[in-house]
Amino acid sequence: MGLIIEAERLSRSFGGHAAVDGLALTIAPGEIFGLLGPNGAGKTTTIRMLATLLPPSGGAAQVCGFDVVRAAGEVRKRIGYVMQQVSPMGSYLLTGREKAEIEASLYHVPRRRVKARAAEVLDLVGLSEHADRLVQEYSGGMQKRLDLACGLLHRPELLILDEPTLGLDVHSRHRVWDHIRGLCAEGMTVLLATNYMDEADRLCDRLTIVDHGREVVSGTPAELKDALGAPTLDEVFLRHTGHALREGEAG
Ligand SMILES: Nc1ncnc2c1ncn2[C@@H]1O[C@H](COP(=O)(O)OP(=O)(O)OP(=O)(O)O)[C@@H](O)[C@H]1O
Ligand SMILES: [Mg+2]
Repeated sequence: MGLIIEAERLSRSFGGHAAVDGLALTIAPGEIFGLLGPNGAGKTTTIRMLATLLPPSGGAAQVCGFDVVRAAGEVRKRIGYVMQQVSPMGSYLLTGREKAEIEASLYHVPRRRVKARAAEVLDLVGLSEHADRLVQEYSGGMQKRLDLACGLLHRPELLILDEPTLGLDVHSRHRVWDHIRGLCAEGMTVLLATNYMDEADRLCDRLTIVDHGREVVSGTPAELKDALGAPTLDEVFLRHTGHALREGEAG
């Protein structure tokens, strides 16, 4: 089978500042791939280009076999994208089930399948019991799981997650990791951005560490650590860049 993501010299500038600067990525089917780096490294910008929401200023990327610029519609049909920030305020006045059903319609799930599909993904992330409560009453972890569920509604080949556990407690983070692992066991490919080094270490099959929009180093977590005899990915980052992640970023 072909690659799920193949990007070459992918770049994006904002007013002369290169947020992403010549990034190469290859992601195979079934992988959990991590884009790892500090705040402002260019992770979200990269993800938005791969999700067809932001045109690259240079380079090219194919997602699920389609060019993100020339065949954006084909790419969108095949991906689920869960954004970094929590869902917009409007959805807080809905129940989890209502939100999932509305999103299912947005994702073009056939009308007669909407209710069943919403129930299915809520079950998948362990929210069935809370499906009829208002989203505004959900904890941060439950909201993240609801976002994850909504990204799964149209059974995407590739799930793109931007900071899937940002701000969650340890228990909730582990639950989200378990859900992600379960999806991959069933053949889904996952691209996730994170600045939690431990998350990348525990969850990712392979990862690219980025800083200032450029690749610092890529490999499996074990390869990256073994190559330097470093105990953690924090240490790998420090050794390659000469600077540490800011306090508190490593979670
Ligand atoms: N729409 C925009 N307009 C101008 N500058 C932007 C825009 N989006 C991102 N940037 C800049 O691009 C750089 C990369 O931002 P990006 O959001 O991709 O980083 P990130 O790695 O996702 O960071 P974080 O870990 O904080 O989420 C930053 O310097 C940011 O200020
Ligand atoms: Mg980001």
